[in-house]
Amino acid sequence: MTLNDFLTIHDISVYEFSEILDLAEKIKDKPQLVQKKLAHKVLTMIFEKPSLRTRMTFEVGMLQLGGEAIYLSPSDIQMGSRESAFDVGKNLERWVDGIMIRTFGHAIAVDLAEVSRIPVINALTDLCHPCQAMADFFTLREKKGALAGLKLAYVGDGNNVCHSLLLASAKAGSHMTVATPSGYEPDPKILKQAEEDGKDTGFSYRLTEDPKEAVTDVDAVYTDAWASMGQETEKDERQRTFTSYQVNNALMASAKSDAIFMHCLPAHRGEEVTDEVIDSTQSAVYDQAENRLHAQKAILLMLLENTRKNG
Ligand code: CP
Ligand code: NVA
Repeated sequence: MTLNDFLTIHDISVYEFSEILDLAEKIKDKPQLVQKKLAHKVLTMIFEKPSLRTRMTFEVGMLQLGGEAIYLSPSDIQMGSRESAFDVGKNLERWVDGIMIRTFGHAIAVDLAEVSRIPVINALTDLCHPCQAMADFFTLREKKGALAGLKLAYVGDGNNVCHSLLLASAKAGSHMTVATPSGYEPDPKILKQAEEDGKDTGFSYRLTEDPKEAVTDVDAVYTDAWASMGQETEKDERQRTFTSYQVNNALMASAKSDAIFMHCLPAHRGEEVTDEVIDSTQSAVYDQAENRLHAQKAILLMLLENTRKNG
């Protein structure tokens, strides 16, 4: 299978969703089988926000596939102020084989993909974080087996990570409950897309303001930062609003006894999660971080190995 771009999980089929997870599993098991698959291919990585995991896993992933990755820092190209997304795309497509972008507005990544003849990968926008959710569902499958029917609770801010988890749940046929304070629910457009994508997969979701109700009897409890990158000025207000949404031992006790704890990281220990939970044997956070590498290598192969974009 070849994909054109990877901007949101909504754009891929149920079949492609499983294919990425299956390929990630094969790559994790036998990385040597794919070690030259992207020989001489170059990925440009545009970062307009900071990163540890995303930068490392894309860079290491390209190296392990025989290719190269070039990092462009937030101050390098200053897309939109120094140069338009259109001109950035029109330049990059002349030199490299693919673009990875981490930016603010989702429309910036969409515009870049539209104008570029080379594949574009969304490595986090304000709207979604699809590579993270692919690694997370790969992790869930490793730990829990079949994804269909699995119960996942997301507690905290209805943000980009929550959106991609909803879209992944829809493709996988999982059940997701989302507990947020009023006014911080997931974007209705994403909920509509998830409903559409999940109508034949067995997917369901529920929104609530009650974290305890959300996690009752679930297989996995997920949380993320209360203030995402770009929301730094709202940090204090959000800390007050989200206090009762902390994932601690008392909350975990309502989930199944073998439930796992998940977080995309970076974690704000003592805020959205306590040390006792993130450092517990139930925590899967470093497996999730490792799986970013394997899942993204699968995505890179599908996008860059035999690109068919624009003909
Ligand atoms: N989870 C994640 O995307 O981490 P970074 O922000 O460090 O890339
Ligand atoms: N929601 C967080 C995720 C970080 C990986 C953010 O956008 O900052």
